[in-house]
Amino acid sequence: MIKTLAAPAAAPLYVELARSLEQLVEQGTLRPGHRLPSVRRMALQRDVSISTVLQAYTLLENRGWIEARPQSGYYVRPRLPFDVPEPRMARPMAKPSYVGVKDLTAEVLAVAFDPAYMQFGAACPDASLFPTKKLARILASVGRNDPALLGRYAMNWAYDPLAREIARRYLQAGCPLSHEELVVTCGCTEAINLALRAITKPGDTVAVETPSYFGFLETIESLGLKALEVPTDPRTGICLVATREALAKNDVKAVIVMPSFSNPLGSCMPDEKKAGLYRLLAEFDVPAIEDDVYGDLHFGERRPKPLKAWDTDGRVILCSSFGKTLAPSLRVGWCAPGRYLERVRRLKFTNTLGTPVVLQKTVSDFLRNGGYDHHLRSIRRAYHHQLHLFTQAVLRHFPEGSRLSRPEGGFVLWVEMPAGVDTLRLHRDALKHRINTAPGALFSVKDRYRNCLRMNCGLPWTDTVAAAVRTLGELARKQL
Ligand SMILES: Cc1ncc(COP(=O)(O)O)c(C=O)c1O
Repeated sequence: MIKTLAAPAAAPLYVELARSLEQLVEQGTLRPGHRLPSVRRMALQRDVSISTVLQAYTLLENRGWIEARPQSGYYVRPRLPFDVPEPRMARPMAKPSYVGVKDLTAEVLAVAFDPAYMQFGAACPDASLFPTKKLARILASVGRNDPALLGRYAMNWAYDPLAREIARRYLQAGCPLSHEELVVTCGCTEAINLALRAITKPGDTVAVETPSYFGFLETIESLGLKALEVPTDPRTGICLVATREALAKNDVKAVIVMPSFSNPLGSCMPDEKKAGLYRLLAEFDVPAIEDDVYGDLHFGERRPKPLKAWDTDGRVILCSSFGKTLAPSLRVGWCAPGRYLERVRRLKFTNTLGTPVVLQKTVSDFLRNGGYDHHLRSIRRAYHHQLHLFTQAVLRHFPEGSRLSRPEGGFVLWVEMPAGVDTLRLHRDALKHRINTAPGALFSVKDRYRNCLRMNCGLPWTDTVAAAVRTLGELARKQL
């Protein structure tokens, strides 16, 4: 019986129920496509309340075990084969390198927001997944109720209620921050830019995970810095052995990391590894710039703690935004610069002076009254489901021997195809079919990842999306 299952005594009943159902799926008693008993029937069968069953089903849904089908019930989801190989970890780089302007980034971005193209390129969810109508109503009412906001400079570093709301959410995530240590920025992009400028000067070396979000590489390039790529495990993030070696052999001025669902690998560092990274940073006295834009998009129960939670001496500059969760277009982001607070404030002043208060207030009002947590739960479910469907389709249509990441959050997939595939060529072939992609070459300053591709899975699954994945797979197979 459920109540006697081997679970920690403190586990709530619904967690125990969810675990026992997971076991039934693992053992094959409940198979993919099977319908689970209705909530009422399950409650009777297991002698628990309806709300316990509902909570257990929601937990299983969030973890990707089951899916709700409208007016039909809960069904066991198809499982992904567990033997799909993951992408290989890159080799360390011998020495830092200037980035060198990549025309390719401009080429990908040129059509990245053109609705005529299937957008597998930019890491941006479909607009239908954002609460745009609600935000538009709040934005209109902010303007109507307080038009004077438009007539003033946004001279403060943060709109106080927004900063308090952001700080409160970090507290819940196990990372206590004061609202007074936050600087509101124009997106995470500005936060990263200010952080780099606060720490470095032209010619300095910055360590990055590899493969690396091309926005970091572009920013490093624009500031005249050098990049040192550090091998990163597709599941557990930046390699600590390689990081130690990089810090020991080079005069690294900052490390940019994405501990929670990196772009493009989707890796998530376990807590012990974050603690280990922090110890390394302290040992070599190096600051870190943490990009946390995907931290709220976890598929598991718990939001991962940011690296900043281990920061006892202000060396971690935490950067993030609402761009992946609420509205990319509002450009509301922030950073918690630790010991660099005053420098970042001054740089913010010279960069954009302030982030429009009307936009900060709109986000703040949404956070306080708009059901942000409910919205987050729903997009996390959607992204998880979409990633699952993309993964299955890639496995079916892409060349045999392809390796795939298995993100536990976010919405991007990293695909490593056999060595004979050139994703730059694939990118150009796909453009002729109105499909935009992000070829692997974008994610390194070296000639790496020629056979890799990052897929944006932030698009609701439709026949058109399915057809585009198939086309991409066919184009790739033709190269072999
Ligand atoms: C890792 C990462 N950081 C930052 C950004 C940009 O964030 P924002 O739109 O808030 O500037 C992106 C967008 O793709 C991203 O993937």
